[in-house]
Amino acid sequence: MARGLPAIEGGSPVRTEYLPFARPAIGDDEIREVEATLRSGWLTVGPRTRKFERVVAEYLGVEQTAAVSSCTAALHLAMVCFGIGPGDEVVLPTLNFAAAPNMVIHLGAKPVFADVDPVTMNVTPSLLDVATTDHTKLYVPVHFGGRPCEIDEIVTLGRSRGVRVLGDAAHAIGADVAGRKIGTIADATAFSFYVTKGITTGEGGVVSSKDPAMIERARLLSLHGMSSDAWKRYSEHGPWFYEILDAGYKYNMNDVQAAMGLCQMEKVDAFREARQRVADFYTRALGDMEGITVPPPFDVGHHAWHLYPIRIDLDSITIDRDRFIQALLKEGIGVSVHFIPLHLHPFYRDRLGYGPGSFPAAEEYFRRAVSLPIYPSMTDEDVRDVVLAIAKLLDHYKR
Ligand SMILES: Cc1ncc(COP(=O)(O)O)c(C=O)c1O
Repeated sequence: MARGLPAIEGGSPVRTEYLPFARPAIGDDEIREVEATLRSGWLTVGPRTRKFERVVAEYLGVEQTAAVSSCTAALHLAMVCFGIGPGDEVVLPTLNFAAAPNMVIHLGAKPVFADVDPVTMNVTPSLLDVATTDHTKLYVPVHFGGRPCEIDEIVTLGRSRGVRVLGDAAHAIGADVAGRKIGTIADATAFSFYVTKGITTGEGGVVSSKDPAMIERARLLSLHGMSSDAWKRYSEHGPWFYEILDAGYKYNMNDVQAAMGLCQMEKVDAFREARQRVADFYTRALGDMEGITVPPPFDVGHHAWHLYPIRIDLDSITIDRDRFIQALLKEGIGVSVHFIPLHLHPFYRDRLGYGPGSFPAAEEYFRRAVSLPIYPSMTDEDVRDVVLAIAKLLDHYKR
């Protein structure tokens, strides 16, 4: 094990070549397909986007999906389809990105935060249940880091309370519960294809549902509410005529993104398996290391391993989490934190009246959390360097 003075104190770093926190896996096939799309002259929503929707639907095991410009757009459209509006409450975990609650605010409804389970970091049915009131219309559980939450039980709770369930699967393409893919269980599910995610289209997302009518409405709303999209209007497949059937948005995916996405979907399982290998390596190497808590195993299906968040035991070292991160960066290791709990951000704190102490499990996690690099192109050496850097810092800063 590499020991010695941390680079932040003037020692030599574990790595001289910086290991980024995330890196997309773009191959020659993506480059070829994007080039072919550019040469085709059809850049906006068209045949590749429609094919991408079918490929994702087939992969998940639903009839239809709607491809959009981001997961945020997918969340927004699903909320519109569920009729969320003024007077409604939407319950979601505070350990979360701002996308879903921001959309709730834009619809004039009220986000209500729930704490998370201190072991899995996912919101649970009982935490959602205690946050439910007569005004609750929607639950938006997150599959945190790619670990499926108890989605069947949340759907059952929703049925008993008259509440719809929109899964935030920004982290969870490829995850499943006992062979049933995330994206097929909730009333609707939103995926992200942002550059760091399980597959990427640069920016992009999909909304899935078992209800094809809902997906057709989401697709209509994604392009101004027009009765016929540009591909149908301007190709030989359809006339110039269109009608506005609803007050839609401009949220469509385009064919350049879809060209990349089609190549990525061919590798979605290979990417997930590569992430699993990195996660297994970390768990073997760090699982018994004093001062570190690793994510718990997930043995009732497949974890998508978008994140590998460890927790530092702050009582065993003389520095805090932020200094630990600075020291890791100096060792040449890119890391991050997911997330600052939403209720601690100025906007949500002030708007909703939350504050420090409102959600103890999320806050305790946040104080100690460090997300390690995890992506398909990481080599064993890269993973080993991360482990060496952590061991070096724990040793040097031991209390
Ligand atoms: C939990 C969660 N939901 C939604 C999003 C939004 O995804 P997008 O950037 O595709 O809109 C993110 C982004 O990282 C996220 O982490």
